[in-house]
Amino acid sequence: MARLTFLQCRPQELSLDREAPQGVCRGIRASASTVARGSSMTNHAFYDSPATARDYLTHAATAGELRICDWLAQRPGPLLDVGCGAGRLHEKLVNVSGGLTGVDYAAEPLRIYRQRYGDANVVQGDALRLPFQDAQFGLALMGYHMIESILPSSSREKALLEAARVLKPGGFLVLSRHNRLGYKLVQQIHAYLRRPGSEFGDLCGPSRVLSDPGPEEAFKMHVCSTKKIRLAARRAGFNLTDSWDFDTAGRTTIRCRAVVECFVLQGRPL
Ligand SMILES: C[S@@+](CC[C@H](N)C(=O)[O-])C[C@H]1O[C@@H](n2cnc3c(N)ncnc32)[C@H](O)[C@@H]1O
Repeated sequence: MARLTFLQCRPQELSLDREAPQGVCRGIRASASTVARGSSMTNHAFYDSPATARDYLTHAATAGELRICDWLAQRPGPLLDVGCGAGRLHEKLVNVSGGLTGVDYAAEPLRIYRQRYGDANVVQGDALRLPFQDAQFGLALMGYHMIESILPSSSREKALLEAARVLKPGGFLVLSRHNRLGYKLVQQIHAYLRRPGSEFGDLCGPSRVLSDPGPEEAFKMHVCSTKKIRLAARRAGFNLTDSWDFDTAGRTTIRCRAVVECFVLQGRPL
């Protein structure tokens, strides 16, 4: 069986992306005053660490991800990879028609991305304020449960609205997220660690990579229910067209299954 899913940081300054190509996008400057607590800065410290960025690169593409890449390759782009990280899937996505653009709010994975692929079109930006014009892309990917690290749920809805804004009418958004059922036990354990202000479904824990995370550095995620994520996507203007579960094939962990959902933006087909 196969299925699909979606993922936040401490208030701190994101610097302007000086390397961003002019005209393609603008960098963002998000200060503590503009990025309120509970905004999209959740998990930023975790993702911006060199250890985290390198760790993700050791994760082989899963069977489900390969299927997503094939699926995207058959549709008209260009493709925006939201939360592109250090480019783990770059080689499998770069040949999408119209080209590939990556966006991530963390500088460190982007630095590694550019080091690995000098000609890659990647920019620093927040999924909640994408630095792109309206209707610029045919396809968007929020892969590897990135949507679930965006907290609270109102921010996830904003990220979906932003994806809808930058997609052309009829364009596709593909989401992959954790299988909530696999997290049931973990969820109970982490309930003890839940902080005031967390929503039901939020998991807070020490990050896997930072050795002694402070309260702001601990990794947080929200394993979304299918119902909620679909509702949020519908509110943003998307219709669900496809959904499948897939094995991560290789890494046998509690998250050994993930869910993938493909949404089409309402409107005239591409
Ligand atoms: C789970 S990692 C996946 C990275 C990459 N897509 C991969 O498959 O290896 C999630 C990525 O999303 C990025 N991210 C999380 N929240 C974000 C936000 N609000 N805006 C932009 N990027 C974000 C993180 O910096 C991180 O690189």
